[in-house]
Amino acid sequence: MLLVVLQIIVIFFLVVYLYNRLTCGVMESITCLAGKTAIVTGGNSGIGLQVVKILASRGCRIIIADKVDSEKSKREVINETGNPNILTKHLDLSSFESIREFAADIKITEPKLDILVNNAGVGAFYDQTTKDGINALMQINYFGPFLLTHLLTDLLKKSSPSRIVFTSSCLAFTTNLSESLENFKNPETSKWSIIPNSLIYTYGNSKLATLIASDEIGNRLKGTGVTSNSCHPGACRTNIFVTSLKGYNFFFYFTEFWNFITSKTVWNAAQTTVHLATSKNVENITSNYFWDCKPFYKPFLAKNPAFCAKLFETTENIVGLKESEKIVKS
Ligand SMILES: *[C@@H]1O[C@H](CO)[C@@H](O)[C@H](O)[C@H]1NC(C)=O
Ligand SMILES: *[C@@H]1O[C@H](CO)[C@@H](O)[C@H](O)[C@H]1NC(C)=O
Ligand SMILES: *[C@@H]1O[C@H](CO)[C@@H](O)[C@H](O)[C@H]1NC(C)=O
Repeated sequence: MLLVVLQIIVIFFLVVYLYNRLTCGVMESITCLAGKTAIVTGGNSGIGLQVVKILASRGCRIIIADKVDSEKSKREVINETGNPNILTKHLDLSSFESIREFAADIKITEPKLDILVNNAGVGAFYDQTTKDGINALMQINYFGPFLLTHLLTDLLKKSSPSRIVFTSSCLAFTTNLSESLENFKNPETSKWSIIPNSLIYTYGNSKLATLIASDEIGNRLKGTGVTSNSCHPGACRTNIFVTSLKGYNFFFYFTEFWNFITSKTVWNAAQTTVHLATSKNVENITSNYFWDCKPFYKPFLAKNPAFCAKLFETTENIVGLKESEKIVKS
């Protein structure tokens, strides 16, 4: 009996493992990126660093925007790709002030911007509140990239055709955002989950909001040559889990095992982002949500125009956009 159960478990993991290996989307773009400039947030590690390497290998000039010193990653990219045109700049998405400083600096130093990859994100940040008075997870994953994108839109328009890529997640389906947007900015921590103090809903809410904002930004920019799309990059073993699970504990090792079975390599997880940032096939596609390099279904709330409009306007107010910084439909 025990043997049968064991066999079923082993077969289950094997099937999941093979399914995940065989269904990975691989981007087919071979577009040359010489003369193009890209910003990759969170480009110091994980999927972001892999995206930087792939774009760099095609000749793109890249600004690694990260809150930690990224000189070591920069040298690694230069060494591996032979592209010397890699810069690092400090950007802390948990601070609106840092984002404004970063954007102001880019506008002075960069004559053009062709690709903005909003990759940086955190898995969970417990009940921390930023100095802007916002839940840290929501600010780093959603409000920060929202503000950054708005501040760089003029430069993207000037450089058109250009592209914005937002990192959403499959967990955009796991949310409890209410239509009233109650607790949107400062959600309470979930107590039900087996993972103590899990912010699983908050994470999902940040990723659903990201998808909706990406759609709306794309709609408002229609006709300008700037596209905006979001994606689920795919679960991948990066250090997002160490920080999410508060270090190396039982949940971390369990997640590591599950990730080994289900998750993609970092190269595979970078494919959809690079596809959206470079592929000719999607040059005219905007306001879409992608999985494995293909358009995917959107969560129900993302198809509710009244809710999306309310979410967008609420966000514009929370991040403190001036009238002149708002994106208006042309
Ligand atoms: C470049 O990479 C090679 C092999 O990985 C290593 O031996 C070398 O020290 C690296 N060079 C620099 C400048 O980092
Ligand atoms: C979402 O879930 C969190 C955690 O369980 C809870 O505190 C919050 O009130 C919920 N929000 C809504 C709108 O139900
Ligand atoms: C995108 O639109 C342009 C202009 O209408 C057209 O020339 C081009 O073929 C389109 N690209 C794709 C992949 O459909």
